[in-house]
Amino acid sequence: MTYLSKKSSFLLFALMLLVTTAGYGQENEKPEPAADVAAAATDGASAPGTGDANIGKALWNENACGTCHIKNMKDNGTGPALGGVETRWASEPRENLYEWIRGSQALIAAGNSARAAALWKEWGPTVMQNYPALTNQEIEHLLAYIDYQYLDLGKVVVSGEGGGDNVREETDNTWLFIILGGALLLLSLILARVTSNLSYMVQTSEGTAPATRRTLAQILTSKGMIAFVIFALVVFGGYNAVNSAVDLGRQQEYQPEQPIKFSHQLHAGMQKIECEYCHDGARRSKHSVIPAANTCMNCHAAIKYGSNYGTAELTKIYASIGWDPTTGKYIEGYEDYSREQIYDLFGNWISSQYMANDGDVDMIDDVVEEQLDGITAALTNGEDDTRIPGPIEWVRIHNMPDHVYFNHAQHVTVGQLACQNCHGPVEEMEVVYQYSPLSMGWCINCHRQTEVAFEGNEYYQSYERYHEEMQSGDRDAVTVEEIGGLNCQKCHY
Ligand code: HEC
Ligand code: HEC
Ligand code: HEC
Ligand code: HEC
Ligand code: HEC
Ligand code: HEC
Repeated sequence: MTYLSKKSSFLLFALMLLVTTAGYGQENEKPEPAADVAAAATDGASAPGTGDANIGKALWNENACGTCHIKNMKDNGTGPALGGVETRWASEPRENLYEWIRGSQALIAAGNSARAAALWKEWGPTVMQNYPALTNQEIEHLLAYIDYQYLDLGKVVVSGEGGGDNVREETDNTWLFIILGGALLLLSLILARVTSNLSYMVQTSEGTAPATRRTLAQILTSKGMIAFVIFALVVFGGYNAVNSAVDLGRQQEYQPEQPIKFSHQLHAGMQKIECEYCHDGARRSKHSVIPAANTCMNCHAAIKYGSNYGTAELTKIYASIGWDPTTGKYIEGYEDYSREQIYDLFGNWISSQYMANDGDVDMIDDVVEEQLDGITAALTNGEDDTRIPGPIEWVRIHNMPDHVYFNHAQHVTVGQLACQNCHGPVEEMEVVYQYSPLSMGWCINCHRQTEVAFEGNEYYQSYERYHEEMQSGDRDAVTVEEIGGLNCQKCHY
């Protein structure tokens, strides 16, 4: 009896251990900012702190605040860094901050806002755009988003979309599980003790009690207990080992910093440039291919000064291929240019642009030095310190193991799949990250579920039987699985 109850409480404990560890290693849920989205969206009275970062993000994008204010809210762009902005307006009525965003020049002219006057003194004659249509509540949403970004809570996921921005860290709950497991262990020991005491009492009253009782220490060091602990450790360790082995080489959500601050959100999203304009390999071949600098030059021979970074980022493209933005010509013999020649050439360009855009004369040397350092860092990849001319070293994000065959054209041209099916909302990503797991299960699942775009697709003419069945109405869809999409050798060399 004593023995049995002890055993069953250990079984209970083992069960709980399994339940709690089952969640371990799985992807944790992304944080959802402020739950009452619906409530906040209805535009009633506004008050500080009632903003919703999700809605704020959408408003930020719609109104293109990002063309002047840098999204990390920490660096100055064409407009000032917005991080902590509320404290700078704290000594004035909140209404002034609202009015500033709706029409900054009017507020400055009214002359009753000290912050507006100070801003103008520092940033004039650059005029901020007016947003007369924004309501107070909408401005609160924007302010909430500014906070989110600034405080690096930047994992805002806009409702209904898969992608947030910034680096998406996963919270690690391991400690929670360990503490929970410990608490359960303690609980089950106490319970075991209680039941054992109770049954001892029963036995004593019945006169069947054994002469000696085992103490807690004896129980803990008993063979059964030691065997159980070893068993639990093996299960737990094995589970983790398998999990990390499966994840090995996979890197979902990998989001490396790129040598140039190239934004898909700006190019594919705001400027609406087709994915295939740059990744033209996707339609024709196995690889999508990262565009060469020449593709960038189709536009950036004309757009030489960016509204976010000025010359800092775009000059990297020119320095890589040897294009002189002053003359608008490619430089002959550029490969043989010394570091000094290159610094001279682009240093002049940077300082001329800086001054042409109302730069501060006292700052000019620092600005030039900083940008030249940036160019060197981006193009030498930190390795060979002397090489500047040469291709831009983009950091590769997606990388399948060599034993897998994956073909873009097959999926994009034949399968007629949009890029977003596999890469997620790239047009909203400031910095691209790996959206899908790229695991075998991921490929297989889609092949099981996806119906091939069969009708009117010349690539499928050879599947006559399916065609006939479709025509006669015996079948209304063909999945990838049915055309052989689960055969090992289709995906493995
Ligand atoms: C055309 C560029 C531009 C755009 C677009 C723009 N701003 Fe501004 N913003 C500025 C400039 C420049 C200033 C500095 C004051 C000035 O010179 O008028 C400023 C100042 C501000 C300030 C005051 C900062 C402080 O430290 O007190 C806030 C808040 C602000 N902007 C918010 C926004 C929001 C929100 C949006 C989008 C709805 C936006 N801005 C869009 C250029 C812009
Ligand atoms: C103006 C050119 C341009 C356009 C348009 C463009 N891209 Fe890109 N793309 C790039 C460049 C440059 C890189 C490499 C730098 C980086 O990762 O941001 C890249 C990288 C990527 C990567 C990561 C590649 C890797 O390293 O694994 C994916 C995925 C991608 N793009 C998908 C898309 C999709 C989907 C679209 C359309 C919504 C698109 N791109 C539109 C230029 C472009
Ligand atoms: C079809 C035209 C087009 C192509 C191709 C193109 N861009 Fe752009 N790019 C733009 C436009 C428009 C802007 C916004 C300019 C501005 O800031 O006012 C821009 C802005 C940028 C900026 C931000 C500059 C800043 O300081 O704000 C960077 C960096 C950039 N592009 C890099 C690239 C790279 C790298 C490529 C090639 C892989 C490329 N672009 C290809 C049109 C293009
Ligand atoms: C069926 C899923 C799927 C679709 C659809 C898809 N991709 Fe990919 N993409 C992948 C996979 C898987 C990889 C990794 C390939 C590798 O490492 O060999 C990849 C890699 C890339 C890369 C890195 C360079 C390369 O080719 O390895 C770019 C850029 C890219 N994709 C862009 C695109 C664009 C643009 C589209 C739409 C025109 C698109 N992809 C459609 C799955 C897809
Ligand atoms: C979003 C859905 C989707 C995902 C994810 C996907 N595929 Fe596919 N795949 C398709 C479709 C649709 C086709 C049908 C195109 C065709 O008929 O060739 C296809 C066809 C194929 C084929 C040709 C099959 C045949 O019978 O001709 C191969 C090989 C393939 N995929 C490999 C992969 C690999 C490897 C991955 C994972 C890295 C992958 N696919 C992920 C949708 C997907
Ligand atoms: C639709 C494409 C596809 C098909 C069909 C497919 N595989 Fe895979 N397989 C993959 C991909 C992608 C990976 C790489 C997974 C990773 O890196 O995590 C993979 C990995 C593997 C691995 C290495 C272990 C691992 O998880 O990395 C083995 C073994 C394997 N596959 C065996 C098979 C066998 C056996 C079949 C036939 C029953 C098969 N595969 C069918 C796409 C496929």
